[in-house]
Amino acid sequence: MQSPRGTQDLLGHQSALFRYIDQTAFDVAQTYGFEEIRTPIFEFSEVFHRTLGETSDVVNKETYTFTDRGGEEITLRPEGTAGIARAFISNGLAQHLPLKYYYCGPMFRYERPQKGRYRQFHQLGVEMLGLETPLADVECIAMAWQFITRLGLAGSVKLQINTLGDQESRKAYRDVLVQYLSQFKDQLSQDSQMRLEKNPLRILDSKDEGDKKIVANAPKASESLTQAAKDFFAKVCAGLDLLKIPYEHNEKLVRGLDYYTHTVFEIVTESLGAQGTVLGGGRYDGLIAMMGGTQTSGIGWASGIERLALMLDLLNQQSTFLTRKTTVAMIPAAEVAESEAIKLTHQLRADGFHVEFLASGNMGKRFKRADKIGASYALVLGDSELAAQSITVKNLKNGEQKLVALKDLKSALV
Ligand code: HAM
Repeated sequence: MQSPRGTQDLLGHQSALFRYIDQTAFDVAQTYGFEEIRTPIFEFSEVFHRTLGETSDVVNKETYTFTDRGGEEITLRPEGTAGIARAFISNGLAQHLPLKYYYCGPMFRYERPQKGRYRQFHQLGVEMLGLETPLADVECIAMAWQFITRLGLAGSVKLQINTLGDQESRKAYRDVLVQYLSQFKDQLSQDSQMRLEKNPLRILDSKDEGDKKIVANAPKASESLTQAAKDFFAKVCAGLDLLKIPYEHNEKLVRGLDYYTHTVFEIVTESLGAQGTVLGGGRYDGLIAMMGGTQTSGIGWASGIERLALMLDLLNQQSTFLTRKTTVAMIPAAEVAESEAIKLTHQLRADGFHVEFLASGNMGKRFKRADKIGASYALVLGDSELAAQSITVKNLKNGEQKLVALKDLKSALV
């Protein structure tokens, strides 16, 4: 039996790493006043199809879409933002603005699997709703940078930012881009020819080598920006400078989803080969209105946990998150002591100790097991200890051994 292509079982170490990454992000998000949100893993297909762009790769080729037994068109979520916008509308949250949400969970894209790219993967992300000013962009990007820094990855990545401008700038840019690309219509890839009508901006993102050559000389988005859009972006950059967050302005950065306006950004690395984007996001002021809600601005980002985990593994940083609390091995050395030992184990666990109850196998094997799990202490409870209402405490790190009264046990385990 095998798991479907592009999925993974997260065993011990890998799961611990995921939990650590999620916890680190959540801790950072809390310092920025975020609360957690959990939306369904599947939604009506239209939630994603219209919003992410009918011509985007995600919608065109990558969604897991099916008709359920009740005849509803359902899509497994390929990302988190559209579902959160849907939840904002269906729960009537407009009167509670501003809202700041943190989320984490599985996402699904039917992509060709490779290192760092899976069909079921996990994102953690944040969305800020109802905050229009460029300072919100600064906070949002600063939080992403703070998170990456806390993971110890800031030295291995680069932050890139760009602006797509407001609706007016985008429309103006669309026109000049179509004019330019139309001259090469016959040389463009089939996908790009289709996009020329529906969504020419997407062509800038094309991976086709022929398209890339044509795109290299295309007019730049920055040349079509309105003054208001330029001013907005300048304020975002000034805020990042003020906080000393290092970034590059990459004019080619357009992102793969349609809902963005104004600021877009990515955190990229060279250490993961082709799948180098570890975090991506931007502003989406038109999304909620497009879905039928009241005009509400939004900005956020999401990061692929598998990619972060791969980076942490490369840097060999496991020691920082696998340090556990004091672990104790409880070893009843006589049958009569077993019930007392299980009671003590129960109590120690209630007091927060990590306790392994080792009641089977010979003594040698049990001590080996205690070593294997990295126990700091072995507690041996036999007839004589029981008679004296005490227990033998062996420090497994330095070999010292002493008899401790049961009532003093907790303080002997530090
Ligand atoms: P995205 O760039 O499509 O943006 O995905 C964000 C991150 O998810 C990527 O940078 C990457 O780390 C990870 N990722 C995407 N696809 C895969 C995959 N197949 N396997 C492994 N990791 C993957 C979004 O999803 C937007 N919702 C981000 C956002 C939030 N924008 C505003 N708010």
